Amino acid sequence: MSVAPPRHIAIIMDGNGRWARARGLPRHFGHRKGVEALRRTIEAAADLGIANLTLFGFSTENWRRPASEVQELLGLMRRYLSSHVAELCENGIRLRVIGERQGFSRDLAGLIERAEELTRNNRRLVLTVALNYGARRELTLAVTRLVEEAAATGKAPLIDEAAISARLFTHDLPDPDLVIRSSGEQRLSNFLLWQSAYAELVFVDTLWPDFGRADLEYALSEYGRRDRRYGAVVTGE
Ligand code: IPE
Ligand code: IPE
Ligand code: MG
Repeated sequence: MSVAPPRHIAIIMDGNGRWARARGLPRHFGHRKGVEALRRTIEAAADLGIANLTLFGFSTENWRRPASEVQELLGLMRRYLSSHVAELCENGIRLRVIGERQGFSRDLAGLIERAEELTRNNRRLVLTVALNYGARRELTLAVTRLVEEAAATGKAPLIDEAAISARLFTHDLPDPDLVIRSSGEQRLSNFLLWQSAYAELVFVDTLWPDFGRADLEYALSEYGRRDRRYGAVVTGE
């Protein structure tokens, strides 16, 4: 039985620190190399005809890292958004950022907005980057909004799955069909918990700075072998 190709792939980009450590380098070298892997992967995904790619770049828990590492990561986001928007446009890629951007400085929030605006008409691939993103926070915000909206109308909130989905950061994206995590770790680390309810999970040992087209193709071939049942019984059994 052949599975339809994934409409949405989400990737937990992990292993930058270990990549650097294996070379006796400080962790930030890994993060810098990680940006190259990100550019490679975006290009490969577009080339492979993937319509939606979501990348986990910075979690709500990553603020717990040493201040110098957090600064390095914020600096990389600034640099990427300042210098690679033209590249995204050349490749037909629309960029969107999910997560709580109030957590960022005004200049970084401005760069995010500018990149979204400049790429908004690109149609080849929708690239969503999760920054200051945590799935529990996202769900908490969605339910809070639902309750507040109802309170404003004086009615009891109508709470169902569609009402929650419509208030998530990903309200206009299909659920991910495939979630990939690099670096050998096998956990979701608070990424797209609601949306990944029926995603196929593929874990690869490659550390993120080494990730590229071959890993993506491997994950796609693994996905192609899966039997997606959604709780039902496969007909003919
Ligand atoms: C992924 O690499 C990048 C971010 C989480 C921001 P890590 O920095 O988590 O690398 P490891 O897991 O320590 O190797
Ligand atoms: C998950 O990686 C977050 C991102 C990839 C942005 P972490 O390295 O922060 O996750 P844990 O701490 O190993 O679970
Ligand atoms: Mg990690």
